[in-house]
Amino acid sequence: MPATGRLPSTNLPDTHGEYVLNSQQTPSSITELPQTSVPPNDQPEPAQWWREAVIYQIYPRSFADGNGDGIGDLPGITARLDHLVELGADAIWLSPFYPSPQADAGYDVADYRGVDPLFGQLADADALIGAAHTRGLRVIVDLVPNHTSAAHPWFGAALAAAPGSAERQRYIFRDGRGTTGEEPPNDWQSVFGGPAWTRVTTPDGQPGQWYLHLFDPGQPDLNWDRPEVRAEFLDILRFWLDRGVDGFRVDVAHGLIKQADLADWSYPQEPLSGEGTDRPRPPMWDQDGVHDIYRDWREVLDSYPGERILVAEAWVQPAERLAAYVRPDEMHQAFNFEYLEAAWTAPAQYAVITRSLEATSAVDAPTTWVLSNHDVIRHASRLGLPVGQTRPNGIGADDPQPDGTLGLRRARAASLLMLALPGSAYLYQGEELGLPEHTTMPDEARQDPTWERSGHTRRGRDGCRVPIPWESNAPSYGFGPADRSWLPQPAVYAEYALDLQRGVAGSTYELYRTALRLRREHGLGRGSVYWLTSQDDVITFRNGELTVLTNFGPEAVSLPAGVTILVSSAPLDPEDHVPTDVTVWYHA
Ligand code: GLC
Repeated sequence: MPATGRLPSTNLPDTHGEYVLNSQQTPSSITELPQTSVPPNDQPEPAQWWREAVIYQIYPRSFADGNGDGIGDLPGITARLDHLVELGADAIWLSPFYPSPQADAGYDVADYRGVDPLFGQLADADALIGAAHTRGLRVIVDLVPNHTSAAHPWFGAALAAAPGSAERQRYIFRDGRGTTGEEPPNDWQSVFGGPAWTRVTTPDGQPGQWYLHLFDPGQPDLNWDRPEVRAEFLDILRFWLDRGVDGFRVDVAHGLIKQADLADWSYPQEPLSGEGTDRPRPPMWDQDGVHDIYRDWREVLDSYPGERILVAEAWVQPAERLAAYVRPDEMHQAFNFEYLEAAWTAPAQYAVITRSLEATSAVDAPTTWVLSNHDVIRHASRLGLPVGQTRPNGIGADDPQPDGTLGLRRARAASLLMLALPGSAYLYQGEELGLPEHTTMPDEARQDPTWERSGHTRRGRDGCRVPIPWESNAPSYGFGPADRSWLPQPAVYAEYALDLQRGVAGSTYELYRTALRLRREHGLGRGSVYWLTSQDDVITFRNGELTVLTNFGPEAVSLPAGVTILVSSAPLDPEDHVPTDVTVWYHA
């Protein structure tokens, strides 16, 4: 972090006044620098609920099991909606529940207009949407446009048809390289490991063409150059909009268009690859052509009453390229994965927050904060790993284990920091309980295709997908009526169950509830960041009338005299000392 820095005011239209960094102050003498004025909160149109919403991700397999088969379902979710009202969420996002062979836990969709019997029926989806709306909760569903399932009727037709046929052109089929086409058409790797191409067998049993799958072979990539693919997805949007959904989380939003020449790319697949790293932009990600697709979608959404939204899952950097997805005529939100990946240090957090706010305010969009989801190690465990280490893709029993106590302490501080920031924030089911990753799962239990596809080198994402605990003393910790769960629950989950935390002062659950209540009362989501002081170990900013301080350093930091503490992520001792790895919100 620079000793003293000043950002041009034009860079931060949402951060009024001067921005001053000062590392000369000692941790015990934080003082606010002179300000010209305290910024008023910018009041957007009240109808733009998404600008400040707290949206809770439900992973249907693992949230609540209504029928006792060990897999969560839609009726289970409906029965638990009051939990989300009590928590203070504004909306839910449901990961896929569509008919699917479940090669990638439902991100391989065989029918975009139905419900897999595992999760219920279409009527259960309607009931869930209705019950959520009755409670004032908006509903966002997952849309998977980059690929279908190999069990989708279109792919069956493509396999049955000849090379070059219209059926094949809905996907990305190519002849192989080598003298007999025995080599894949290019060197692209699948995100889950291994080649991104699979060779098909012709009806007479001969080896045939290859098809592209950036993920599992059960997830063939669609060809978005075909008008009929575009028309189909416009129709799928309308199908769910007509059923009342409030928006779509767009899976792999940066992947739909591939560089036309399908040029070789010799680098390994990694999240957040792209400009801003030392590599060229990959030919399979973040091609400019994707934006036309979202402009078309936005027109459809805008033709419906209310504010229906699109949120991009786009592992894209730098922040300016991500911001292109949320220009005024495209999507509404884009997950800020650079923030999720940022190291737990004051300079890294300060830098990513500043950069993100600059980039999104340049296109008049909110920043969309997120710390956990179904693809990454839960932040209560991730933050218990050594700072600065690259996030591993899954943790197994033989791997270095996170420090659970440290991880939870930092996770609570990180969440309280995130919830003080202007913009929207996504929570992942269980994080409100401080739930850790299951880091000692037996390898035989793993279901994520990453484990097999990577030749058992990457354990994958099962550890964050384990059914969540509701009751400490019930079968499957209250996940369902039976003692069954599709992934094993670790015994330690009993200690995190909701019933042990509800109404208990100091619990992670009550911390989240308090934070969400105060966030709403103080309009933090539509506020602005006004930096006060920042040092090597501490960041402090004001959002409206609230001051937020996070201490990343080893020494306690003393607060100015006479402040009123509203909430802190861990007890202060004494009252005006903020210990290490703690966030506090106070009134000056
Ligand atoms: C997204 C999903 C992930 C899935 C992948 C392929 O990254 O979040 O779970 O495996 O897309 O659909």
